[in-house]
Amino acid sequence: MKVYLDNASTTNVSKDVLEAMLPYFKEEFGNPSSLHEKGIKNRKIVNKSRIKIAELLNCKKSEIYFTSCGTESINWALKGLAFNNKTKYEIVITNVEHHATTHTCSFLEGMGFTINYLHVDSNGFIDINELRNLVNENTLVVSIIMANNEIGTIQNIKEISEVCDQARTYLHVDAVQVVCHTKLDLQELNVDLLSISGHKFHGPKGIGLLYIKEGTHIESLIHGGQQELKKRAGTENVPYIVGFTKALELGIANLGQYTKRLNDYSNLFLKRLDNENIKYILNGPNIGEERLPGNLNLSFKDKDGLLLTYLLDKRGIYVSTGSACDSESIEPSHVISAIEVPRDYINATVRFSIGNETTSEEVNYVIDNLIDILKNEM
Ligand SMILES: Cc1ncc(COP(=O)(O)O)c(C=O)c1O
Repeated sequence: MKVYLDNASTTNVSKDVLEAMLPYFKEEFGNPSSLHEKGIKNRKIVNKSRIKIAELLNCKKSEIYFTSCGTESINWALKGLAFNNKTKYEIVITNVEHHATTHTCSFLEGMGFTINYLHVDSNGFIDINELRNLVNENTLVVSIIMANNEIGTIQNIKEISEVCDQARTYLHVDAVQVVCHTKLDLQELNVDLLSISGHKFHGPKGIGLLYIKEGTHIESLIHGGQQELKKRAGTENVPYIVGFTKALELGIANLGQYTKRLNDYSNLFLKRLDNENIKYILNGPNIGEERLPGNLNLSFKDKDGLLLTYLLDKRGIYVSTGSACDSESIEPSHVISAIEVPRDYINATVRFSIGNETTSEEVNYVIDNLIDILKNEM
């Protein structure tokens, strides 16, 4: 049996999404900017997709900009604000951001910006009072990862947005792990910019979205044609836009039962480890509303995470480690370091991310094999 439990890294393109996309590769391949029938058909489908997405996310269609991925959206949000700004030179981020944010901020640091880091507690939550103290009249933007890709912590964005409003600073949210995994309502959240990526919810890789709230002005990074309201040039990726929209529609319709099923699987997983007296820590919040459904980031006492991943791989089980490797050493990731996992656990951190297509047989197969490996092979 092969079991893919790495859905936080990426998901497959679902059958319905692929079927929706296929005509736009072949018969309906026109360029939305062309004035003939084939072009107009494509322009209409891009427009229809934008309207549908706006409806699903509760925003205006003019606030949606297609990009090539989550990383591009994040780069655009942060550099776009920075390049458009003449007065404010501080940025606030957490110390558990994705590298798309941290490395963009390092680049901006090289241009003279100061990056201030918010600490997180042992479950990965920021301290709202620390944010209140950090933001000031020089803060250009606060950028926060809404749901952590490693440990699944879901931050209270509404509370953060109130602080940003009071301080008159922009708020950008990295919602790449959020969409179709937990509720997202742009009116309710009240953020200025928000980044999304299609491949985390059974859409294709290579398509993302940046939400730019009406009235928020950011510099373009990609210049050329008039696409995306003249803000992000390049011929629209019509099949992927169609796939993104279909995946979003299906994912949101499925959300209630998805959450329940994945939380049930996670509870079963932990219960069986407890029954076998396995010594582990669940990194991040308890299973429930503050944790991404299906995310199980576990550290095992006195074990080796890379070896565990290798042994699982040999049995056809695909997961991620909580380590970052360079050529000479294997270090715990910056997220695992930030939440201060105890020393005797930190070296065996593995992320199991259950997905929409995971079956109960697969979950049980993984647990059986994990227990066997931990007890007999390590
Ligand atoms: C939280 C988070 N932000 C940003 C990204 C980058 O998205 P993409 O792979 O679409 O560039 C990822 C991808 O893993 C992510 O998990």
